[in-house]
Amino acid sequence: MARLPAEGKRIGIIGKGGSGKSTAWAHVLAYYASIGVPAIGQDADEPGEKEKGSLLTWSEKVDIGAPVYRAPAAPRIGEEARRLTPPHGLCLIDTGAWDRRSGNTHFAVLANIDLCVFALPPTPMEMERAGSVLRAYKQMRDFGLTPPRTVFLLTLVNPNPNTASTKETRDDLVADNFQVLTTTIPRKDGRGSYAQSFGTKPDVRPGSPMARLGDELLREVTR
Ligand SMILES: Nc1ncnc2c1ncn2[C@@H]1O[C@H](COP(=O)(O)OP(=O)(O)OP(=O)(O)O)[C@@H](O)[C@H]1O
Ligand SMILES: [Mg+2]
Repeated sequence: MARLPAEGKRIGIIGKGGSGKSTAWAHVLAYYASIGVPAIGQDADEPGEKEKGSLLTWSEKVDIGAPVYRAPAAPRIGEEARRLTPPHGLCLIDTGAWDRRSGNTHFAVLANIDLCVFALPPTPMEMERAGSVLRAYKQMRDFGLTPPRTVFLLTLVNPNPNTASTKETRDDLVADNFQVLTTTIPRKDGRGSYAQSFGTKPDVRPGSPMARLGDELLREVTR
């Protein structure tokens, strides 16, 4: 496993409401704890109506193996993330639902991470919506800021690997020169699955999708 630099690395996750961001980060944090990678979470979800399902609330219900801290106001998110990142470790930053009104908090996260994971359910409608993130990246460049290296994570994927929309979405993104992670997160609705996992100890057995996501992100952030 590639060693992380002394100052560690920061990985953010963005995506529309309900795309599985907090679920992914809770599992990946638990996975890193299980394999001995020092990691912490920073919850930059705006406190509010969706608070019940936030990464911070999850970590208050059960020990996920790594501490989660509430992000400060936007101007201090970067310095706080750097301060909290364990030596040779990772800081995983969770964000609230991306929508057209997304503002300072999302921009503050984007400006302070080494890698951005864009959680995207593979449907034409979601692809359409992804455009608003790409416009935000253009806006950053217009301000002289460098958007973070971004990789797409296909989430809530139909478990049938031959489902056309998953392959088509991947092919479309790759054709547009975007990087799509090999790992996909299946939509699971059964008992004991991701759908019911909020507030429970994340199941991160080796080889599971979330464990593979953790491994792939480690490779991506250290390459
Ligand atoms: N892979 C999955 N399969 C099925 N259900 C899932 C999966 N991932 C998450 N869910 C469920 O979907 C809902 C939204 O998940 P989650 O809270 O992780 O999304 P989010 O992107 O963090 O949402 P928000 O933008 O509101 O913070 C939850 O009820 C969760 O249990
Ligand atoms: Mg969330």
